[in-house]
Amino acid sequence: MLCFTKEDKEAKLIVPLTPKGLESWLQEQPVSTKNWIANNGFIAKERQICLVPDTQGNISRVLLGISAKEPVVSFSGLAKQLPTAHYKINLHDINKSDHWKIFLYWALDSYCFSRYKKNDALKKPTLYMPDPQVAHYAEGIYLVRDLINTPAEDMGPVQLSEKVKDIAATYGAEFKEIIGDDLLEQNYPAIYHVGRAGHQAPRLLDMHWGDPQHEKWVLVGKGVCFDSGGLDLKPSSNMRLMKKDMGGAAHALGLAQLIMAMNLPINLRLLIPAVENAIDSHAYRPGDVLATRKGLTVEVGNTDAEGRLVLADALAEAVTEKPDRIIDFATLTGAARVALGTEIPVYFTNCEMLKNSLEQGAAMAKESIWQLPLHKPYRSHIESAIADLSNDANTPFGGAITAALFLQEFVDDSIPWIHFDIMAWNVTSKPGSPEGGEAMGLLSCIKMLEAN
Ligand code: BES
Ligand code: ZN
Ligand code: ZN
Repeated sequence: MLCFTKEDKEAKLIVPLTPKGLESWLQEQPVSTKNWIANNGFIAKERQICLVPDTQGNISRVLLGISAKEPVVSFSGLAKQLPTAHYKINLHDINKSDHWKIFLYWALDSYCFSRYKKNDALKKPTLYMPDPQVAHYAEGIYLVRDLINTPAEDMGPVQLSEKVKDIAATYGAEFKEIIGDDLLEQNYPAIYHVGRAGHQAPRLLDMHWGDPQHEKWVLVGKGVCFDSGGLDLKPSSNMRLMKKDMGGAAHALGLAQLIMAMNLPINLRLLIPAVENAIDSHAYRPGDVLATRKGLTVEVGNTDAEGRLVLADALAEAVTEKPDRIIDFATLTGAARVALGTEIPVYFTNCEMLKNSLEQGAAMAKESIWQLPLHKPYRSHIESAIADLSNDANTPFGGAITAALFLQEFVDDSIPWIHFDIMAWNVTSKPGSPEGGEAMGLLSCIKMLEAN
């Protein structure tokens, strides 16, 4: 991680202070420092910073205003405000269990998607950081952000596959993929039909890692590398961000990388249906009836509800080895965003125990996630007159729930399962979360897995 070092020599000290703490700190300072602080109007307001010079005029310390109630969040946004130098945070007065999040904020704040920028030679401030775990978290989140931010032209099914292959090679995982017509031969008809019009062939990416003795977890991610809506074409404003429609795949891969990097005792499988929802003469059509891996037929009510179709085949495969747990991530519905806004990941689960573990993970991660119900009576909304299911509900209401109920048709009740419906994108820049691709729900999951 470029923003961290393990060296604390010559690091400038960052001193976090509450307004009360500032009063007592000032008592021990020489008059020159007292005057400097007063002249700069530093009153230790939350997130306020003050660079304090030594007698030579070099920065000797940085004061950071923090809230007494929630000191950790005051560290978000810090890295972006500091001049290029090496720093160390004085963490004496901060709860030990919170240190990791403070370090992580530094990394999240330092992130910049620079692949297409000429002038990224700018040096950034670095931080002394002794916790190897945090570097793993940060690398996982950077991976998710980079994958989502990369335009569809450079992050199609082929490039996504290469990325998974590279990561598999790094951690000694097995990788295989089923491409194009082979999807039909090997009975993944829904992935095939949704992706058939894309200029890169659709594929199912499949990675295995870990010891078969350990608990088996399958991670599944929606890998729609671009979602034009298909023949039910999206209006341009809705299409603008659709390079992010492989955000679920990015999350599943980011979580898989974290599990492997931290060497967690998990027998892991990653499944990513990677397609482009495009238009040409091969595009699947509204009114078509698709076969699925499970054998259920689906009438295509709307070609823009493609995510649940490709996930249906991946989930049907995920259950075959009777795993202990399944988690899927998907930028599945606009309705989930209408319900909870863009920042709160929605999840569904068929298992109360798994819900409790996830909520504990979320509490440890200090992340807000929110459960919606798999409300059985709404199952009637995804019935079709001519097939077993429709991919488009017959009502404009409860779209996140009807999409989740559709997925549930492909998961056995006996297998604990979590489905995340996420935005995967920050619509505005905030401290620690720059506009663009974002990992949502990921920290809650890794904390749950660490505690498992
Ligand atoms: N990828 C979209 C959902 C989406 C849109 C997620 C915007 C996050 C932000 C998905 O494939 C889609 O288009 N869903 C439709 C489903 C509808 C046609 C039943 C939707 O949500 O409108
Ligand atoms: Zn769509
Ligand atoms: Zn989509």
